[in-house]
Formats: sequence, C-alpha cells, structure tokens
Amino acid sequence: MIRSDNLRAAYMQSDVDEYIYNLLPKNDPVVAEMEEYAEANRVPIIGPAVARLLTLQVQVSGAKRIFEMGSAIGYSTIWLARAAGPKAEVFYTDGDPENARRAQEYFIRAGVAKRIHVQIGDALALVTKTPGKFDFIFNDVDKHQYPDALRAALPKLQRGGLFVTDNTLWSGKAARPPAPDDKYTPGVQEFNRLVYASKELFPVLIPLRDGVTVCRKV
Ligand SMILES: C[S@@+](CC[C@H](N)C(=O)[O-])C[C@H]1O[C@@H](n2cnc3c(N)ncnc32)[C@H](O)[C@@H]1O
Repeated sequence: MIRSDNLRAAYMQSDVDEYIYNLLPKNDPVVAEMEEYAEANRVPIIGPAVARLLTLQVQVSGAKRIFEMGSAIGYSTIWLARAAGPKAEVFYTDGDPENARRAQEYFIRAGVAKRIHVQIGDALALVTKTPGKFDFIFNDVDKHQYPDALRAALPKLQRGGLFVTDNTLWSGKAARPPAPDDKYTPGVQEFNRLVYASKELFPVLIPLRDGVTVCRKV
C-alpha cells in the first residue's frame, strides 16, 4: 500500500502504482519504522520498490565498495549495506548532522553499523576526497546539483562499476519545459542529457517510481 505521496509516480496511473507496491513483501521492523518516520516527517526516501532495484543491482554486480551521495536518515544506505554483505564498505554522506545521528542509530539497530562509514558534509567534495575508487555510487543529492554530482562521481567509479541516480523523471517534469523559477528540473534534464551523451557511460533510465537512471562505466 502506498502511504506517502513521495512514493507515488506522478506520471503513472495510481492503480498501477498501488499494484506494484502491493506486490512487495513486508519489511523488517527497523526498515518499516524508517518508512513510518519518513512519511511522518516528509523525508524523501527512495522507498521499498526502488530499494529492491538497488539491492538487485548490488547483488548482481557484486559491488563491495559503495558510496552514497545524499543519504538522509540512512534508509537507502541500509538496503545497500545489506545487499553488499558483511565484507562491504558503504560510505554514507549527508550535509545534515541530525540526519547522520538518526541514521547511525538505525544502522546499529539494523546490525550493519560496522560496514558503514558516516561522513557529514558536501557529498560532492567527500566523494572526491575519500581515497580509492568505488564499485557502485548512488546519487540522491539535491537535484540542481546533479550535473556536478556526475562530474565529481565519474572519476571515482571503477571501470565496469555502476552509477545509479534517483528522481531522473522528477515527477514527469524532466519531460517538460521548466517553469522560470524552477532550479531543480533543469539540473535533472542536464544530467539526463550528459549521461546519454557520455562516451564513458552506458545509461538506462528506468521509469520506476520517480525514475532511476542506471549507468555502467565502460
Ligand atoms: C532525497 S534525500 C536522500 C534520501 C536517501 N537517499 C534515501 O532514499 O533514504 C536527499 C538528502 O541529501 C542531502 N543532500 C543534498 N545535497 C547534498 C550534498 N551536496 N551533500 C550532502 N548531502 C546532501 C539532504 O540533506 C537530504 O537529506
């Protein structure tokens, strides 16, 4: 059952959306509590349908070193960390220390705290500064930063690695001319243009929920 507008795809018939969410099995108590908290406090999490897509991508690719840009209360981080297993290293980043404090509590309760590094600050600077390359980078920062997030993340991604970005349809607004005062839609549109023009990436935009773009670095 969809309980939050955030999980609803604005461009899809609502009964079809509802159908997809009703197929999903129940989540464990910690993840379910995070979903309740996100709904009550208007935290824009990816939700269980997109979380399962990330899980599948991590498991099929075998990614072990994962960087997340924009982690909020750590909902997507927990799914990534569980998918990658106990030997994984997952880097959480968010600009808000209160989000990071709450996320850390959830990581402990979910039993994944040992595999997650919590970093507070600008995710674009942190992905550049953190030593080494990553097998998987998940991008969910504020949407006007998407082109810069791509430029920061790409040199840090292993060849063959996946760069996954949420909200690339942006409630369908990505397909339409932006309003003059809308700074987010042009960021998403430029990002979509850049990844499809890139010789370094093989992208696919999946119209699940708000759009998820999966790019493999060739
Ligand atoms: C959409 S929410 C992330 C949700 C999370 N990925 C999930 O699905 O559970 C975006 C978060 O990114 C953070 N954020 C936005 N721009 C950022 C930046 N440049 N550096 C770090 N955090 C950023 C915001 O504080 C917000 O908590």
